[in-house]
Amino acid sequence: MADFHSELAPRPAAETVPGTPSVLVETYGCQMNVYDSQAIEGILAPAGFSQSRDELEADVILLNTCSVRDLAEQKIFSRVGEIRHRRRDAGREQPVIGICGCMAERLGDRLRKGPSGVDIVVGVDNYETLPGVLQQVLASQGRRPHAVVGHRDEAHYVAPPALYPTNNSHLVTIHKGCDYKCTYCIVPSTRGPQREKDPETIAQEIRTIVAAGGREVTLLGQNVTAYNWNGQMDFAALLQVVAEQPGLERIRFLTGHPRDMHPHLMDVIGTLDTVCPWLHIPIQSGNDRVLKRMKRLYTSEDYLRMAEYARKVIPEVTFSSDFIVGFPGETNAEFEDTLEILRAVKYDQIFSFKYSERPGVPAAKLRDDVPLAEKKERLARLNALQEEIWEEEAAALHGQTWTAVAETPARKPAGAWRLRTANNRKVVVAGAQIEQGDALRVRITGHSNTTFLGEPSAE
Ligand code: 5AD
Ligand code: SF4
Repeated sequence: MADFHSELAPRPAAETVPGTPSVLVETYGCQMNVYDSQAIEGILAPAGFSQSRDELEADVILLNTCSVRDLAEQKIFSRVGEIRHRRRDAGREQPVIGICGCMAERLGDRLRKGPSGVDIVVGVDNYETLPGVLQQVLASQGRRPHAVVGHRDEAHYVAPPALYPTNNSHLVTIHKGCDYKCTYCIVPSTRGPQREKDPETIAQEIRTIVAAGGREVTLLGQNVTAYNWNGQMDFAALLQVVAEQPGLERIRFLTGHPRDMHPHLMDVIGTLDTVCPWLHIPIQSGNDRVLKRMKRLYTSEDYLRMAEYARKVIPEVTFSSDFIVGFPGETNAEFEDTLEILRAVKYDQIFSFKYSERPGVPAAKLRDDVPLAEKKERLARLNALQEEIWEEEAAALHGQTWTAVAETPARKPAGAWRLRTANNRKVVVAGAQIEQGDALRVRITGHSNTTFLGEPSAE
């Protein structure tokens, strides 16, 4: 799943309650982790922990981590060192440092050893143990460390809506894990097999969100389109259940797999008014030999056929995608097939990554033979072409009038707001009295990268 983290709104101020241990939760990686961090805060609050946003003050710092690429993990090791240094320099006692999320699952007890060793390690299916583990560690002399990892099928968390960030979209995880076996990917081992959250739990969670004032949800999972509750309810049917929830105005979802994008699902997306016409469906590569060795289970032609059908049945649909460049053995000519995909699909946005070998995944048996300089060059070419294509696409949209919903005040110009259309286009609008959640008609006057500029329109 792509990392849309930077697009999230700022979090509400923390409520530190004197006399209770305070916890700072830092989130890295994808939205699954954003949601899990909210769930962690929801588990800790009733157990007598308060929230902190201050790395120098917090009694406990939990890093909710990502393992998808080596760089993501290196960042965490440096962050642990940085926290220890800053506390030492400030003359403060060291906090209890904990690792949650994918790194906890991948590295387990090893994270407690060595110079950057942490105090606790709690994996993705064990967050309800956190209050007990923290109480024990905080009470023990010399901080006897703990590691609680391992997958449990029945562990599904429901984050309390009161702790959600105040942007329009409330995250709702609908399943965990992944049953695909893409050869480059660490997720099936860090998150375990795919396990669905019960549709009634999902519906109830959404009703709670609506009751708390929420109007939009983003259904989350590694492969939401593979949702299949007990073999009886697929993702299309779940979308219908979610769309029936009274008061809900917009439904987004992340991430889809091309293989699950059946015509029936696209028909349903196209027919349900509240399901947003934005498809984040990663293709990873445009070359069939590479796709085969990635075990992606589709060809570039299947993908293009899917996109063509989506355009036919989903009005105003837009696309975004993830790409990996420099997969083992990828030749320059094979990489150029990926460029062809950009030309054919015309994505609104792409998220592109250099292949990073993950220990123990099937692709680790292949030689990581594309030199780093070549990977960097392919990444730059991919992004440059996307920019060129997007510039032309975006310019052609100037003058159109769209409906967009206000999310947050924009950084500039003063008084402006950031809005989002149903098909996930961002628009900054100034010169109007706007409140969060307002739906406005806006005329597009310009753009800068993937953000459009607009003005209120009477049309
Ligand atoms: N190396 C580089 N990118 C990866 N991704 C997943 N695994 C790897 C890896 N080993 C990318 C894919 C996925 C996104 C979340 O991260 O593009 O869709
Ligand atoms: Fe990883 Fe592939 Fe599963 Fe996505 S579908 S989480 S890339 S194994």
